[in-house]
Amino acid sequence: MCGIVGYVSSVAPREADHVALDVLLQGLGRLEYRGYDSAGVAVVTPDGQLGARKRAGKLQNLLDEVEAQPLPVAQTGIGHTRWATHGGPTDQNAHPHLADDGKLAVIHNGIIENFAQLRQGLAADGVEFESETDTEIAAHQLAKNHRATGDLTEAMRVTVGQLEGAFTLLAVHADAPDTVVAARLNSPLVIGLGEGENFLGSDVAAFIDHTRRAVEIGQNQIVTITPDSVSIIDADGHAVEGEPFDVDWDPATAEKGGFESFMDKEIHDQPQAVADTLLGRFGLDGRLQLSEMNIDESLLKSVDKIVVIACGTAAYAGQVAKYAIEHWCRIPTEVELAHEFRYRDPVVNEKTLVVAVSQSGETMDTLMAVRHARQQGAKVIAICNTFGSTIPRESDGVLYTHAGPEIAVASTKAFLSQVVACYLLGLYLAQLRGNKYSDEIRVILDELEAIPAKIQRILDETKPQVTQFAQANKDVSSVLFLGRHVGYPVAMEGALKLKELAYIHAEGFAAGELKHGPIALIDEGQMVIIVVPSKKGRDSLHAKVLSNIQEVRARGANTVVIAEEGSTEVEEFASQVFYVPETTTLLAPLLATVPLQVFAMDLATAKNLDVDQPRNLAKSVTVE
Ligand code: F6R
Repeated sequence: MCGIVGYVSSVAPREADHVALDVLLQGLGRLEYRGYDSAGVAVVTPDGQLGARKRAGKLQNLLDEVEAQPLPVAQTGIGHTRWATHGGPTDQNAHPHLADDGKLAVIHNGIIENFAQLRQGLAADGVEFESETDTEIAAHQLAKNHRATGDLTEAMRVTVGQLEGAFTLLAVHADAPDTVVAARLNSPLVIGLGEGENFLGSDVAAFIDHTRRAVEIGQNQIVTITPDSVSIIDADGHAVEGEPFDVDWDPATAEKGGFESFMDKEIHDQPQAVADTLLGRFGLDGRLQLSEMNIDESLLKSVDKIVVIACGTAAYAGQVAKYAIEHWCRIPTEVELAHEFRYRDPVVNEKTLVVAVSQSGETMDTLMAVRHARQQGAKVIAICNTFGSTIPRESDGVLYTHAGPEIAVASTKAFLSQVVACYLLGLYLAQLRGNKYSDEIRVILDELEAIPAKIQRILDETKPQVTQFAQANKDVSSVLFLGRHVGYPVAMEGALKLKELAYIHAEGFAAGELKHGPIALIDEGQMVIIVVPSKKGRDSLHAKVLSNIQEVRARGANTVVIAEEGSTEVEEFASQVFYVPETTTLLAPLLATVPLQVFAMDLATAKNLDVDQPRNLAKSVTVE
């Protein structure tokens, strides 16, 4: 939520050569997925002039503004793309916020909880406010502390001590033209290291075009960057070392690569994302090895309960994990939305393994649940796609998915790779605890390794049919999704994709639950999309879902079926069938989800909606 970028350089700009502005705008382009209701930049020239521009709406509005009203040429600056919390998405509420007669500029991600109280104090000092934001309060508070201390870093340290909440703040001051100061408290911030230039970003995407060397910053720390130095201090002013790491993302993976949208590209990235998430997980003896997990084997052997915590799409990956882990390892496994888990006094202890699934690694609800679980003595493993993010950092161990940067707000390739990582975890536990022989595990892994080619086949063969169907049905007003077993989370994921992208009513149900109430929704022509399980191995499951299709069809539903190749018996009950390649029941979500992603994307596109940046959403939800 909110994208933040900071930059300082020693390169002397030529006349009209906007070193800082170009880097900031490029970084904001990369971060726009984090929030896109307004954007702004502030730059400081070597002779201490501060200039700022900001505009409500997408980043393009800011680009138009800086073209119409050019900023002074500068080497230092900060930039922001916003997802509104305090105050609507207006020009006034956009960041940066200025203080000290326009000499100080601040941008912010997160929420300052005691802003009302601070505002009163500042108003009593005679400060007049121009916006409704909590950020402006922070800017004036920082300006006050700067006047008292004469040093921007020290002023930031004092200010952070006065603020309550979760936030990242970045500031520049006209009196310190080669410096950007930042603070981090429960909100994301990473440093990018360059030669004669340094960067700050909400995530590494902000500076991936310039450097892959990055440094993690801890909570409640203050960082000061100049062109040639990076220094970090803690809340008491003591110097601390950041943790350096290398980013293995290729900048090209963050580009659209010829596709109409990032979402389309990311759907097409899925064969690679699944293959990459499987890569390098085997030891020389052929056994599954998850060394990054960093949790004592004896502890994993003694675990008596697993709780998967996550939100949204990641929670649906967790639901798939439950079916697989319980089946393979016989360990009771619960899945809970992180925000519900955190506030209900859950029963977890030293024998509980908590698995936190998060693409961004910054979702505040999940982070709070991780902290709570660890306080109760549980060990936490993060399944995460973003290196250097907070959730893996605060967990006991991590299993990285290797989906590459996911820019479109709606999750696609991250979901599939989360599901793969959950399978790997389940198989690893089964291997460790002796629930399965290694040749049994090998059979499942072989099938997993065959999945990327099968996804590719869906993209090549089924996708064009789904696109045509979505375009023909763009005026549908409500769609229900049904599934059983692992098809149930797939149904919910299909419904979520349609809600968030096409803004139409969509619900996912367990097919067996239908007759307990939801069947009342079925009316003549109601579209119902049904995920049919394979008939092999779980014949009874297959037969039950066929009955469910007949129940809704008998009541007038327009039935659309996702079924395995060869399941031609479904054709009798469906107005449309999309076939996916065969696989085992437990792995089927990796295939059945793909047509549903395409359906939502293409229906929204046919309605002329922005599939990469749906209304009201942000990629990384860093507030509770
Ligand atoms: C839906 C979607 C969200 C995220 C959720 C968790 O398409 O993307 O539901 O899955 O906000 O985000 P992460 O995985 O970053 O914790």
